[in-house]
Amino acid sequence: MEVLVLLTIVFCLSIVLRRSIRRHRAQTTFHQIVDTAAAHRALNEKANAFSNRPAAIFPVVLATGLRGQRNENITTVNYGSHWRALRCNLTAKILHPSRLIFLAPIQREATQALVAYLSEQVWVAGKVVAVRDPINAAVFGLVARLCFGDGVDGRQMRAMELVIQDFIVSMGELNPVFDGSTMCKIMNWRRLGRLFAFLGRQTKLFLPLINARRQPDSRVCSAGGIVDPYVDSLLDLRVPDNGAGRRALRDEELVSLVSEFLGAGSGSVVACLEWTLAHLVDQPDILDKLRREIDGETNAGGGVLSTRSLRGLPYLNAVVLESLRMHPPVPFILRGVHGEGAAAVGATTMPMPSDGLRVQFVAGKIGRDSKTWTDPDEFRPERFLTGGEAEGVGPMPGPKEIRMMPFGAAHRHCPGTSQAMVHIKCFLAALVREFEWAPSAEDCVGGVDLTELDGFFKVMKKPLSVHVTRRTCTV
Ligand code: HEM
Repeated sequence: MEVLVLLTIVFCLSIVLRRSIRRHRAQTTFHQIVDTAAAHRALNEKANAFSNRPAAIFPVVLATGLRGQRNENITTVNYGSHWRALRCNLTAKILHPSRLIFLAPIQREATQALVAYLSEQVWVAGKVVAVRDPINAAVFGLVARLCFGDGVDGRQMRAMELVIQDFIVSMGELNPVFDGSTMCKIMNWRRLGRLFAFLGRQTKLFLPLINARRQPDSRVCSAGGIVDPYVDSLLDLRVPDNGAGRRALRDEELVSLVSEFLGAGSGSVVACLEWTLAHLVDQPDILDKLRREIDGETNAGGGVLSTRSLRGLPYLNAVVLESLRMHPPVPFILRGVHGEGAAAVGATTMPMPSDGLRVQFVAGKIGRDSKTWTDPDEFRPERFLTGGEAEGVGPMPGPKEIRMMPFGAAHRHCPGTSQAMVHIKCFLAALVREFEWAPSAEDCVGGVDLTELDGFFKVMKKPLSVHVTRRTCTV
């Protein structure tokens, strides 16, 4: 009799356990899309069904305040009126292509600062330099000026750069394992604790700078007053208040939006610049061809390379696109979908978590889909030139097909695409024009190590160290 009771208990427990494992798996498994045709079927043909990110996953969970109040940023908020208000503000006030021309003076200052720093490091004889940190400092400085204007001193700038860097590393550690479940929170309590500490540091650092912008007298803009900082637009913004009119953004929301702007605007650009330099060092013939184009344009402009002329350089454009195709800085593009969306990716039989089926578009594999690309693992910018297999392909996919998606696609595509492309081209052109780049002694033997590391961003596993020499005669 006792044995029977025991067997019944074991049987019931095994059913409960199996059910909870199945539920956990359903909540945590991502349905992966790795080819261009499937990405097009989902994101272009069923765009509306693919307009949200999964609500329970990181970092959406962290966007929820301790008192249950969600502190959304553009990435985390669901498609709807709140998202529209935040995104339209960023696009219209800061990122609109018509505003790019006004960025030229502060872009020039940022590239000049990077060139000056590297020149000081390498002098004429040349030296092996780890390039990620100096590039990050220059790009971050530029993005921080767009965010806060010119009122931030060097010490505050460095502190912000460090806290965003730590935050990105910490998110990258958590991203592959975090699914929002209680079990996962318990198992990763240490990492979560570290992340919350970074969030606390961000608030301490950003809030006084944000509050300083509330004082009309202390408002300093960038580029001689032409570029209004992002924070000012956020302070002026009124978002829908659950059907009760409109309201100003809360402090926690402001901090989250500023953190998103600084992190998204700098980390991805730095990753792309490092990957592109690595390929140029690895393939000197491509570097020479690019330099000839840049020198030619600089000569034609009387020694000056304007933002407008940069945009017209076909080989520079091709080099950057090829880098983004092979190493998209954001490795995974996430969606949470129901009904029609699940059917579009052929996942109707999968158990559906309450926040939708988790779909992950693997941008690196999509950019190297062998059904779309010839020799996809080869760095060959020529494919983007006239007559090449990717002639006419740009950073954003068109409505008819998806061949690569480094900036995502459909409703939630990256609003910073145009600005990012201009930033990347500006820095890259200056680095190629002013310096000679060659592999370090170690890389001369086996070539540059192009192993990828997928964290929050796709970065070089072994940060690029390269022999840099100042060019004595640039044009
Ligand atoms: C090389 C540079 C960049 C890359 C590769 C990149 C890539 C991406 C990707 C893949 C997404 C997700 C798109 C999707 O889900 O379909 C995204 C979203 C986003 N990016 Fe970028 N990005 C870059 C630069 C920037 C810049 C400069 C900004 C602004 C300062 C920015 C702001 C954002 C925002 C706010 C979102 C969320 C959009 C939404 O959910 O509506 N990004 N980015």
